[in-house]
Amino acid sequence: MVTLIGLLAIFLVFSSSSTQLPPVVAQSSGPLEDALGGKGFDVAFPGDPLFVSSTEAFNRRYSVKPAAVAFPSTSQQVGQIVRAGYEFDYKVVARSGGHSYAAHGLGTEDGAILIDLSRFKHLKVDTDTNTAVIGAGNRLGEIVLGLSQHGRALPHGTCAYVGWGGHATLGGYGFTSRLWGLSLDAIEEVEVVLGNGTAVVASQLQNRALFAVPAPYLGIVTSIKVRTFAAPPSATIFNFNWHLSIKDATAAIAAYQRYVLTANIPAHLGIQGVITRASIQGNISFGLVGGWYGPSIELNGTLKGLIDAMPYPPRAMNFDTGDYLHSAENLAGGSLDTTTPGGRDTFYAKSLITPSRSPLSTAAIRAFVTTFATEGFASELGWWFIQLDLFGGRNSAITKPSTSSTAFPHRDALFGIQLYGSTRDNVPPYPDSGFTFLDNAVNSILKNSPREWDYGAYTNYIDDRQPNGASCLSYYKEGFETIKRIKRVYDPKSVFAFPTRWLSEEVAV
Ligand SMILES: Cc1cc2nc3c(=O)[nH]c(=O)nc-3n(C[C@H](O)[C@H](O)[C@H](O)COP(=O)(O)OP(=O)(O)OC[C@H]3O[C@@H](n4cnc5c(N)ncnc54)[C@H](O)[C@@H]3O)c2cc1C
Ligand SMILES: *[C@@H]1O[C@H](CO)[C@@H](O)[C@H](O)[C@H]1NC(C)=O
Ligand SMILES: *[C@@H]1O[C@H](CO)[C@@H](O)[C@H](O)[C@H]1NC(C)=O
Ligand SMILES: *[C@@H]1O[C@H](CO)[C@@H](O)[C@H](O)[C@H]1NC(C)=O
Repeated sequence: MVTLIGLLAIFLVFSSSSTQLPPVVAQSSGPLEDALGGKGFDVAFPGDPLFVSSTEAFNRRYSVKPAAVAFPSTSQQVGQIVRAGYEFDYKVVARSGGHSYAAHGLGTEDGAILIDLSRFKHLKVDTDTNTAVIGAGNRLGEIVLGLSQHGRALPHGTCAYVGWGGHATLGGYGFTSRLWGLSLDAIEEVEVVLGNGTAVVASQLQNRALFAVPAPYLGIVTSIKVRTFAAPPSATIFNFNWHLSIKDATAAIAAYQRYVLTANIPAHLGIQGVITRASIQGNISFGLVGGWYGPSIELNGTLKGLIDAMPYPPRAMNFDTGDYLHSAENLAGGSLDTTTPGGRDTFYAKSLITPSRSPLSTAAIRAFVTTFATEGFASELGWWFIQLDLFGGRNSAITKPSTSSTAFPHRDALFGIQLYGSTRDNVPPYPDSGFTFLDNAVNSILKNSPREWDYGAYTNYIDDRQPNGASCLSYYKEGFETIKRIKRVYDPKSVFAFPTRWLSEEVAV
């Protein structure tokens, strides 16, 4: 509560200093403040109102406090800021949309220099080459809208607020990914500022090694050149739902897996299985949800084999057909607008990528489903969902590139499974039982799979609670050796903060 006296005091402070009221940056008092202040970009330090508002994590489980937040608008400025971290021994971290599941856009520990890329909003389509140059600070919603003016599109996720910089450099999966690949697969060239402050261009022709390393380990990407795709004239977002017992749900998911392994499904089918809480203990809600980017009259024929293989006819279904822009709006929850601030959440999420070569056993599916029908039903979490995204299947563009050519190594993936749990009303605290529930769900699969099962995890659904060694291997596979080697060459001072804990412990071994 601000009292009258308090107000008066504020008034007095402001009026007495009004003639020489310094800009925020000039409250300088140390080498970092001197290095970053007065350089033509905004910068905020602890205590500044801008600092408070710009260090809130999307995931409210986290409160990481950087040493400073800088808002550059050119690569040269990014270079100056990185150089300051290099010289004064600060970790430096990039933030594009701030939607990291583990708040890694604030750094993995307190005290980093945060480079906020929200002013890198350029988006330019070259209509001769059908390429686009997209600033790292664009949100997915802005990209859909910008490209659609030229009839073009890209593969990426659904949420309009997710930032391009984190999303595209770590993967970027959506229902168009079987058709066009991940966002990362569309990249032709990136402009990246290295740990010594030097900006370089990386492409298949120059600095190619940088392509195989997830960007946050190595540099700050300011701009990304991609090839774009013709937006399909018609797109249908569909959804079917069942309420199923453990036995029936096991049969349903086994049938879903059998269908995607055996049917000759076209690349323009994107699909996921979705598990959520049902209204009674012992049941789950199971959905088949997807995007169809071909003629709508051909969808039912394609899905017939799948829907017929389910234990019952669906209790509900829905089809929404329109142009490509309409489908992206549907998936974003109705609107691609990101001009008003998006909501935040208090959640824990993790992932499990299953190999096509060794599909889920029926025992694994049954144990998995049982976790949701029992522990999940009783969970004190407000809500949770599990998505079994189809990464593989016949004709999938995701499985075409080689394992080592990009920072996404899981090219034998069948399902990318995401597990996400959130508190009631989305507010802290997140309960301990919410961690064990989702851990148990993943372990229910692992315990019922071969000992040397070649599963993976997805860096865009990063989970920092995993044991270090296991984590790095499941995220990066054999590529982790490459990451360490290239990081030693390009960032020898380890200026970039991205899972430093994992990297330093791994390197120390
Ligand atoms: C609501 C929601 C929906 C989502 N839906 C999907 C989906 O459908 N498909 C999917 O694949 N993923 C999805 N994700 C995950 C999303 O792709 C990741 O969280 C992504 O990393 C967020 O990028 P960002 O730029 O917003 O996050 P940030 O927090 O800014 O960054 C994420 C990580 O990347 C690093 N980074 C960011 N920008 C740069 C840069 N320019 N240079 C170098 N490193 C950088 C950060 O340091 C951090 O480690 C979703 C996430 C949320 C919260
Ligand atoms: C539970 O699942 C079975 C099908 O497996 C279904 O017949 C029943 O209606 C479901 N019950 C509820 C309450 O969802
Ligand atoms: C597909 O099947 C559903 C359910 O039978 C039906 O409602 C819908 O009209 C069909 N769509 C087309 C394009 O035939
Ligand atoms: C920074 O590092 C890169 C890559 O190692 C190197 O090419 C460049 O010359 C370095 N720049 C400076 C200023 O040392």
